[in-house]
Parts: sequence; structure tokens; C-alpha cells
Amino acid sequence: MLKGKKLGFIGGGNMAEAMIKGLLTASFIEAKNVLVSDPRPERLEYLHQEYRVRAAADNRDLVEKSDIVILAVKPQIVKEVLCDVRDRVAEGKPVISIAAGVPIKIIEDALNHGALKACSVVRTMPNTPALVQQGITAIAAGSRVSKTDVKIAHRIFEAIGKTVDVDEVHLDAVTGLSGSGPAYIFLIIEALSDAGVKMGLPRNVANALTLQTVLGAAKLAELSGKHPGELKDMVTSPAGTTISGLHTLEAGGLRTTLMDAVEASTLRSRRLGELALENDNADCAEKKSG
Ligand SMILES: NC(=O)c1ccc[n+]([C@@H]2O[C@H](COP(=O)([O-])OP(=O)(O)OC[C@H]3O[C@@H](n4cnc5c(N)ncnc54)[C@H](OP(=O)(O)O)[C@@H]3O)[C@@H](O)[C@H]2O)c1
Repeated sequence: MLKGKKLGFIGGGNMAEAMIKGLLTASFIEAKNVLVSDPRPERLEYLHQEYRVRAAADNRDLVEKSDIVILAVKPQIVKEVLCDVRDRVAEGKPVISIAAGVPIKIIEDALNHGALKACSVVRTMPNTPALVQQGITAIAAGSRVSKTDVKIAHRIFEAIGKTVDVDEVHLDAVTGLSGSGPAYIFLIIEALSDAGVKMGLPRNVANALTLQTVLGAAKLAELSGKHPGELKDMVTSPAGTTISGLHTLEAGGLRTTLMDAVEASTLRSRRLGELALENDNADCAEKKSG
């Protein structure tokens, strides 16, 4: 779909690398058409050696040479980066942000300068399993983005996993569920493995049993299409072992705890977005002179 188009990453960190790896593995784009800008020359050299992608001289050079720009820097420097490059963002050039918690309005406002400018902004929320092409990315369209640019965003993130469309207002809930979710699951994996060790299993065996149980259960839930409650009932025999374990999980409030965790993370994400908007008083000119 990108057919000779150039994809530029502002920021060549972990998430950019995950995306580059996925896009090249999926043969979605040729390495020569991927550009990266990053303040650390050694990082650019590493990305070139590892993936043969090209380094841009700086962010402005990257934006000028790219047909699609991926904003992959930390949220707190997004505004500064946009102020620096905005006069190089041509009318309608798609800008796809992966920065957590930075509202589309901040990006659109920063890109709009002088005469009315049509900026095509897509905001996304990927997650870390993208590193092994098993991520899920929620995609929210900006106010002036074309359907084609949203489709392009889907194709890009499909190279590192799955995608869903959401309204921007739901990105906080996405952060609470799939953005923070891998950490919840890692905690559960660690706890199950510890439990196996407590019951006398060697660590390597406990780890192997835990990982395959989590992977297998997720795959079964996905492929069977059955409600998770039905799948649970299938392995729960009367007066058996599983119902005893489930009773303990219910007594410990596992369901409520997980729901509370997603709610807490969602509310925190919402607050960070509000703070970003409250602190976004200065326009680019003031920011530069200040
Ligand atoms: N990792 C995740 O799970 C995840 C999930 C969803 C969304 N995100 C979002 O993805 C974005 C990147 O996260 P990450 O984990 O990849 O962070 P990261 O590894 O720190 O990558 C950011 C990169 O940007 C570079 N950078 C700093 N200042 C720059 C500038 N002025 N111009 C260009 N590049 C600059 C950094 O260099 P230095 O290291 O030298 O500062 C670093 O290499 C964040 O906004 C984050 O919210 C991450």
C-alpha cells in the first residue's frame, strides 16, 4: 500500500524499533524507504546496521523527506518537536502519533500555523507485544484526516499485531486495558510461576507451564469464539480441583481487582491528558523564545 512512499520516524526508540521490525518482516515497506531521526548517532547507526533503514540529518530533514510521519518521541517533548518541524509539514501530510496521552488537539494546534493548514493527524495507542508482532493498536482519527490516511495507519499497525478503531475519548480506557494490560498479565505470569515453585516444581518447568497455559487459554478463547465463562465451565467438574481454585480466586476478589486496575489506569491516563491540555498555554513562538 505504501508503494515507494517514505515513512519517517521521529524518535528511534523501543516502539519505533518494534514498528520498523514488524513492517520489514511483513515486507510492508523496503528498508530504503524508512527514515529515522534521533539525537543519538549511535542509536541511528544501530538501526541502520540492524535493519538497513536510513538516518535523517535531523527532525526537520526527516519531515521534509517523508510522505508519512510517525511521532515516536516521549509525550513530554511532542510539542517541542512539532514546533520545530511544523513549517516543514506539507499540507495534508499524514502525522501519526504513538505518544501516550497527547491529545489530537495539541498536535493539530501545533501543526496549524499562519494560513489555514489541513493537517492530517491520527492518534494511536499500541502496546509492547508489538515487539514480537503481537501487539494491539487502537486508532483514533483527527478532525481533518482522510479515510485513506486512517486506512494507511491500520495497515502500518497491522504489521505489528492487530488494530481497532476508537473515538479519541476512548483512548484512556484503551490505555487502561491493552496499554497497561501486558504489565497486569506479566504480574499474573510471575505469580503463577511462583505458585508452581511453592508447590515443588522446578522454576523452568513452572515457567514453561505458566507461559503455555496463558498462551493456550488466550488462543482457545480467540479461536473457539466461545464466551470465557463457557470455557471455564468446560474445565470445572463437580467437586473437582478447578472449582476449588476458582473459589479461592473469587474469595480474593480477582475480578474486582482487575476491574479496579483498569479503572485506575484509565483515570490516570485521563488526568495526564487533562494536565497536558492545561499546560499547553504557550504557542510555538512563545515556546521557542521562552
Ligand atoms: N513502549 C511502549 O509500550 C509504548 C506503548 C504505547 C505508546 N508508547 C509511546 O511511544 C512513544 C515512544 O516510546 P518508547 O518506549 O519508544 O520511548 P523511547 O525508547 O525513549 O524512544 C524515544 C526516542 O526518541 C528519542 N528522542 C529524544 N528527543 C528527541 C528529539 N528531540 N527528536 C527525535 N527523537 C528524540 C529518544 O532519544 P534519547 O533516548 O536519547 O532521549 C529515544 O530514542 C512514547 O510517546 C510512548 O508514550 C510507548
